[in-house]
Amino acid sequence: MKSRFTVEGLAGQKKLRGEIRIAGAKNSALKALAASALFEDEVQFENLPEIEDVARMRELLAAAKSSPVLVKEIAERFRASIVLTGPLLARYGTVTFPYPGGCVLGERPIDLFLQGFRALGATVEEHDELFHIKGSLRGARVVFPFVSVTATETLMLAAVLAQGQTVLENAAMEPEIPALAGYLNACGAGISGAGTPTITIEGTNGRLLRADGKTFSVIPDRIETGSFVLLAALLGDGVTVTHCEPAHVAALLTLLRRAGVKMEVGTDFIKVKGGGPYQSVSVRTHEYPGFPTDLQAPMAVFLTQCAGEGTILETIFDGRFRYVDDLVRMGANITVMNPHKIWIKGPTPLSCKELESPDLRAGLAYLIAAAVAEGASTVDNAYLIDRGYERIEERLSKLGLNIKREEV
Ligand code: UD1
Repeated sequence: MKSRFTVEGLAGQKKLRGEIRIAGAKNSALKALAASALFEDEVQFENLPEIEDVARMRELLAAAKSSPVLVKEIAERFRASIVLTGPLLARYGTVTFPYPGGCVLGERPIDLFLQGFRALGATVEEHDELFHIKGSLRGARVVFPFVSVTATETLMLAAVLAQGQTVLENAAMEPEIPALAGYLNACGAGISGAGTPTITIEGTNGRLLRADGKTFSVIPDRIETGSFVLLAALLGDGVTVTHCEPAHVAALLTLLRRAGVKMEVGTDFIKVKGGGPYQSVSVRTHEYPGFPTDLQAPMAVFLTQCAGEGTILETIFDGRFRYVDDLVRMGANITVMNPHKIWIKGPTPLSCKELESPDLRAGLAYLIAAAVAEGASTVDNAYLIDRGYERIEERLSKLGLNIKREEV
């Protein structure tokens, strides 16, 4: 059975109040779960978000215990499934997996992973729509031609048990990476430089990691943080986003201040005081610490309510404006200039519509747009939102938003 959300819009009135607690980051939890395959004992987790992608990763891990194979039907449901190939290959000397699924954001190839595995001494074969990787891994120097978050994580994990030293150059610097490396090091790995463009891994030569009761604490979700701050800026009358890491959304906060949003930023909270009318700004997505592509759609909704003209330049993906048509149907004034750039002129009131999100992050943007709009909107295919956001309707209801889940 499918479910959908119904949201009673506030017609732009700032009425939301209270606190909203940030959950553990999907993109931290999934990688740490995958990394648990490098351990000889059990890894305990703290702050693990209760989301669908976490449930899928646990299913994959459970199935891979009997043989190092990623079950096709599960792996095809989320992109991060591919990260598990690194630890499985490292541990068992072989792994079989299908092309990973996940959000359609344009082309999402896996060439960097395959080249990386080859550099570490593995052989790669593809038949019957499955990749078969084999080999006992030896350290190597891998230079990524461009930055990829999951390729960095997968090869870092593959190198942990290898023989000798691996150096990853032009590595991603997203905060989920040093968080994971720090934990692995506490459990016997030899990773340095995580969080910088050069990561060096001294392989353990097959010695598995040991948790010995040490807990992995999932870091706060910075995409949730940013999305809720945007919601609060649009509709809040005193909303505080709690249990977050404001430093991880610094690029967003800088832009919001420039737009005129008043905020009090603490060590683990952001109190959005509002302000306005807001002025439009221009945004360019970038690898961390730049403005995250995953906040691009919620930011577009924000810009529809700002005065003046702004642009969004998407530099990571080439198919990430599929939500634009729906926002235009709601009343937004947005022009797609080319596959990487949109132009937005505001402010425009939005009106309720029946919506179905094209991807997980745009899903939350649709809920925000529905909350801004006048009238009751529906957002179909709640699973897409549940993949990454824990009990979203309960949490937004607590702020005073009238949002309900219905089975259809
Ligand atoms: C991760 C995040 C996702 C986020 C993205 C960019 C997870 C599970 N997902 O996705 O939420 O939107 O980072 O911050 O952590 N590419 C190749 N070949 C490859 C790998 C990637 O060409 O082998 C390209 C992609 O198509 C894209 C670019 O590299 O254009 C960067 O994507 P990447 O950082 O790999 O995104 P993901 O790791 O899939």
